[in-house]
Amino acid sequence: MTLTIKEKIEQLRGIIRYHDRKYYVENNPEITDYEYDQLLKELQQLEKLHPDLITPDSPTQRVGGEPLTQFPAVEHRIPMLSIDNTYSDEELEEFDRRIKRMAEINARQDIEYVVELKIDGVAITLWYEKGLFVRGATRGDGFKGDDVTANLRTIRQIPLKLQPAEVKQKIPPVIEIRGEIYLPDKEFQRMNEEREDEGEPQFANPRNAAAGSLKLLDPRLTAQRHLCVFTYAIGYYEELELKTHMQCLELIRSLSLPVNPHTRLCKNMEAVIRYCNEWDKRRRELDYMVDGMVIKANSLAIHDRLGATSKAPRWMISYKYQPEQAVSKIEEIVVNVGKTGTITPVACLAPVPLSGTTVSRATLHNFDEISRKDIRVGDRVVVQKAGEIIPQVVSVLKEKRDGTEKIFKEPSACPECNGSVSKDGVYLRCHNPFCRAQAKRRVQYFASRDAMDIEGLGPALAEQLVDKGLVKDYADVYYLKYDDLVNLERMGGRSSSNLIHAIEESRNRDLDRLICAMGIGNVGSHTAEVLANHFDTLDKLANAGQADLEEIYEIGPVVAQSIIAFFQNEHTQEIIKKLKTAGVNTKKRATPKLVKNPKVSGKSFVITGTLQKYSRKEAGTLIRNLGGRILSSVSKKTDFLVVGEDPGSKLDKAREFNVHVLDEEAFEKIIS
Ligand code: IVH
Repeated sequence: MTLTIKEKIEQLRGIIRYHDRKYYVENNPEITDYEYDQLLKELQQLEKLHPDLITPDSPTQRVGGEPLTQFPAVEHRIPMLSIDNTYSDEELEEFDRRIKRMAEINARQDIEYVVELKIDGVAITLWYEKGLFVRGATRGDGFKGDDVTANLRTIRQIPLKLQPAEVKQKIPPVIEIRGEIYLPDKEFQRMNEEREDEGEPQFANPRNAAAGSLKLLDPRLTAQRHLCVFTYAIGYYEELELKTHMQCLELIRSLSLPVNPHTRLCKNMEAVIRYCNEWDKRRRELDYMVDGMVIKANSLAIHDRLGATSKAPRWMISYKYQPEQAVSKIEEIVVNVGKTGTITPVACLAPVPLSGTTVSRATLHNFDEISRKDIRVGDRVVVQKAGEIIPQVVSVLKEKRDGTEKIFKEPSACPECNGSVSKDGVYLRCHNPFCRAQAKRRVQYFASRDAMDIEGLGPALAEQLVDKGLVKDYADVYYLKYDDLVNLERMGGRSSSNLIHAIEESRNRDLDRLICAMGIGNVGSHTAEVLANHFDTLDKLANAGQADLEEIYEIGPVVAQSIIAFFQNEHTQEIIKKLKTAGVNTKKRATPKLVKNPKVSGKSFVITGTLQKYSRKEAGTLIRNLGGRILSSVSKKTDFLVVGEDPGSKLDKAREFNVHVLDEEAFEKIIS
């Protein structure tokens, strides 16, 4: 039987939704990213030919429409309350006693609790009617929030149409699901680096970044922020019979919304406390911020019985972790010139332990921040890990001053090249296209692992090459000779010939790496891949106009603008010429066909620690190309744990579950 176009389109949408569910909810993808993109492309093409068949719930319709001028207000059908906080085990025990008292349960009887990670993000609510996502809003004041539907639609983890796990499963006619939008630490870091390059103020922590991204009026910009979500409650429902909170979570998950995998049912308060303390230690393993745990009575009968105060439900409580701060002394303030010329101040601190590492540097963001907080060299300051990644100076202990502290003056010229500087927003920027500091950063970035991956060309060598005038921009790397290298510091004959060989080899890298390596503002490795797939050659990309670029799913006006500006620059033209003359590949290679390797195909892998020869991303791609799957955490069902240096608790877990552990050597054998 042949399908009509309409049926074919619906079938494709169903397949894509199925794979979305596998990827985002079950963490268990069945196809490669490449195959997924092909499905999406096929759907896009069919819809382009038959625009009348496009429906709002189609997986292609995540980003659409014009920017808003403001967000409409939405009144919440059921208010979005807050949670009462506790900070100690004793307070949790008191909470347990209070619940029993109020619910008239014998003090010696156990109550079951569901314990969830408290995700430090932004609360939202999602409204589904007949299985379709119709509206999403922020919490606002708890009664009224902002309608951010268009932005929430761009988050791939939020299904536009609920996709039940079982075919027979009934979809409730109306259901409101609540959860937390967050930004993974890596995304936060990437975004801040980009903002630094662009001379825009950085976000202080992932929560602010998530909130800012959700409140952008142009959904195309929100789409570029790669927000994520975990859902943790049902706000309102019709025609469902639910008895426990755990059943609510199972239901949400079965409808294809992501629920945090570390949620646990505890049989009494003692087990709750143990689990809370366990995560106080473990939370740094996660790639998102957790600021505590949320403890919820499991029985919905108890919820009904206890109700809520005007502020918070009585049957739930949060257990907040201590924010991690330390006091240290600023010994010096140095300035750093980034690869696009942004000059940022950094505080050098007397080393101090802070959440598991020793901190000796903290970002001061920009010079306005220094004067606003009146930060001086010699000051004692409170430092904190913002987003638990980049330590930052929170405040100055002015009462500890003894008069020897020195005011730090904003530089009036580039500290590296003496070039002219000017303010660009709050940022100071060096405008000299030949600034050595910028050249060093660009060369170093060009050679880095996710870019051209030239082994042996790290920051120290980049520094020497530029200082000695051997390299003015990254294209010059391809004109280096053995004799240029052999007399440099820490470069013997052996390492020089190795490096020449590595440079030689890098000429054949695929186009996406080259695009990434060129250091275009707002273009990281993922966007580079998208661009390479679309344009096939560097020349085509260089000649693309704004409209050609914006036509690409995932590329918005800001990125498009920065790509165009980059290629219009004379300097870039020069560099491209040099790269081509040197024989650097500027064309995309055919995507390798999926070669199924029986040892890898259909098997699930988790990677932990640092591998010597591959970045995690590379190892992941290798495994996927051989038909394997990558998971983020170890479970009984994991087939292999690939272990590099400094593995975390994943290794313990793998041993506990008897998962096969591979060191790098064993891993290479399997994939060879
Ligand atoms: S339940 C009545 N569960 O924490 C409020 N909230 O500090 C219902 N949050 O506004 C929230 N993770 O934005 C719940 N697993 C979780 C949570 C969670 C994070 C947020 C939520 C809430 C805030 C209160």
